[in-house]
Amino acid sequence: MSDDIKDKIELIAEESITKISKSKNLTELEDLRIFYLGKKGLVTSFLKTMKNLEQSEKINIGKKLNLLKNKLINNIEEKKLHLNDALIQQKLLEEKIDITLENDHEQYGTLHPLSKTIDEISAIFANMGFYIEEGPDIETDYYNFTALNIPLEHPARQEHDTFYLQPNSEGTRKVLRTHTSPVQIRTLEKIDIDQEKEIRVIVPGRTYRSDHDATHSPMFHQCEGLVIGENIDMSHLKGTLIEFLKVYFNSNNLSVRFRPSFFPFTEPSAEVDIGYKKLSDGTLDIGQGDSWLEVLGSGMVHPKVLEGVGIDPSKYQGFAFGMGLERLTMLKYNIPDLRPFYDSDLRWLKHYGFLGINEINLHSGLNGVFS
Ligand code: DAH
Repeated sequence: MSDDIKDKIELIAEESITKISKSKNLTELEDLRIFYLGKKGLVTSFLKTMKNLEQSEKINIGKKLNLLKNKLINNIEEKKLHLNDALIQQKLLEEKIDITLENDHEQYGTLHPLSKTIDEISAIFANMGFYIEEGPDIETDYYNFTALNIPLEHPARQEHDTFYLQPNSEGTRKVLRTHTSPVQIRTLEKIDIDQEKEIRVIVPGRTYRSDHDATHSPMFHQCEGLVIGENIDMSHLKGTLIEFLKVYFNSNNLSVRFRPSFFPFTEPSAEVDIGYKKLSDGTLDIGQGDSWLEVLGSGMVHPKVLEGVGIDPSKYQGFAFGMGLERLTMLKYNIPDLRPFYDSDLRWLKHYGFLGINEINLHSGLNGVFS
């Protein structure tokens, strides 16, 4: 009986060790472990039959079985490590990226020039400590006009300039916002200026007016800016806007002109022009020259606007500005016509669009005033 068992153990030992070494993957290996060492496994069941043996054989055979058991555990562990290693090697091979391959960007499309402008403007102002706010495209008359000190008879309120929605049951009608300025009010209502002490926000977004020609579209984009604090004055307005324009147009000696103007929500108000000259091929050389182009509106926030949102104008003041993003984009990239911006014409997009990756911009080290 005991010789019989010993033979069987030898046989199992030989067979199991070969099988383990030949197993091709982790599942096969686990099946073998269960087959030999599991609760109902071959080696386990032999160990269970030991109690029927005589004392001297128990020791002898018990030793052999335990040796075999330990050997199998070790071999399985070793094989497991080996198989895991092979698996990683194979994965590495399969997932290898050939970085020398040509990047066919057409396949992925391009970044619309307007998106590029919004990215750049956001980056430039973020560098100056501004954060981004947003507001709804469908606005109430209060936020779009009244809270901004725009009087009832103002032309912007007229039917033919502004898109109005159908009146609701109470007779009030909403408007598609004609500018991003209402977000000034929404922001100031939201914050506690006594706690914040100073806020700096920009608001890029869609705006709407009843206009359509080569330089106007019924839907267009603006970027609003607002800074409110205890000691903000006109010099901050000028400094901020000059720095912004220099970085945006990537020109350290850009000439900038502030021209007195009027907006109901600022006092005093200024329109901002940049210098340029027309080249012989008809394109504009932005930077210096005898001609001026208007690029944005600005001013010190009107005390009435601050009072309207519960801010004491004798304690806090600030400046605001608003610019048309299509115009800034057209000037920077020499795009003559506004209408194709929204035509989704692939030829236009391919020509004026940007490759989203590896673009040189402020984040990646645009050589601007701040870097
Ligand atoms: N909202 C004005 C417009 O659409 C632009 C503007 C001018 C915004 C002066 C401002 C500002 O914040 O201070 O024409």
